[in-house]
Amino acid sequence: MDPLLTLFSEPTADGELPPDLSRLYDGGLQLAAGSLSANFVTSIDGVAALERRRRSGSALSDRNPADRFVMGLLRALADAVITGAATVRSEGGQLWSAAQLGPPEAGGYSSLGKADPLLVIVTARGEIDPAEPALQEGALVLTSEVAAPGLRRRLPARCDVRSLGTAPLRGKTIKQAVLDHGCRRPLTEGGPHLFGSLVADGAVDELFLTVAPVLAGRHADADRLGLLEGLALPPSSFAQARLRTVKASGSYLFLRYGLHPVAQRA
Ligand SMILES: NC(=O)c1ccc[n+]([C@@H]2O[C@H](COP(=O)([O-])OP(=O)(O)OC[C@H]3O[C@@H](n4cnc5c(N)ncnc54)[C@H](OP(=O)(O)O)[C@@H]3O)[C@@H](O)[C@H]2O)c1
Repeated sequence: MDPLLTLFSEPTADGELPPDLSRLYDGGLQLAAGSLSANFVTSIDGVAALERRRRSGSALSDRNPADRFVMGLLRALADAVITGAATVRSEGGQLWSAAQLGPPEAGGYSSLGKADPLLVIVTARGEIDPAEPALQEGALVLTSEVAAPGLRRRLPARCDVRSLGTAPLRGKTIKQAVLDHGCRRPLTEGGPHLFGSLVADGAVDELFLTVAPVLAGRHADADRLGLLEGLALPPSSFAQARLRTVKASGSYLFLRYGLHPVAQRA
């Protein structure tokens, strides 16, 4: 993989990375304690899922090595990966670890010296396959009071099932539950409906967005999803974003935004 190329970076200092990772990322990176970061890939026209019930991130990114590197690096820096149950159902069979994405030629992410992030699954209905490989390692499952008892019976004993009240769960409640679990640098990889709940509550602090160089399009009757689903903000309440870095690899763009809930806008 060729190193990313930094096209813009805000002047504030960022954390350091081990030299090999810093060379590939073209700079430092850290996730702030107490902040929730999000990572997505979309087409140029903002499509994030081609078919809701099928794995679609890799089809959009075409398994681009730089995208997989950034995804792996973020997982390696995070101590929890939060995902909605539909993403687990459509992209099952994986471990949500950094190493699974294929360590870069620079010797992998192990130079960061961190353990794999904890998988956190958010579900209202509790439809999770207990045979999912990632669950065998233990996971935190955040769910409704209705679904919690059944999940506690069905899921492997290493899973921690927490009831957070009535569904749908509030975004800020999800974030706080993960922070209270001791995961100070959580990362969400979506999908778009979970992201909608989190953004609606101003719970996301940073967005890492890979823009793949494709136009995907959407029909009104198609099962395609945009980056943010389940809410439609009026212009007076748009979540505001501040551009922090722009990096490129070939025709792929890697954008990093700081997000501000409406209440914090100047
Ligand atoms: N482009 C990307 O970077 C990217 C990233 C992730 C996923 N995807 C794609 O997105 C598609 C899935 O999209 P999606 O939006 O349906 O996925 P999702 O947000 O991961 O899952 C939605 C499900 O998560 C649970 N959930 C979400 N918010 C909740 C809340 N506030 N309270 C309680 N439960 C909540 C519910 O589970 P229950 O139904 O179990 O109640 C809901 O049906 C797949 O094709 C996947 O490949 C793309």
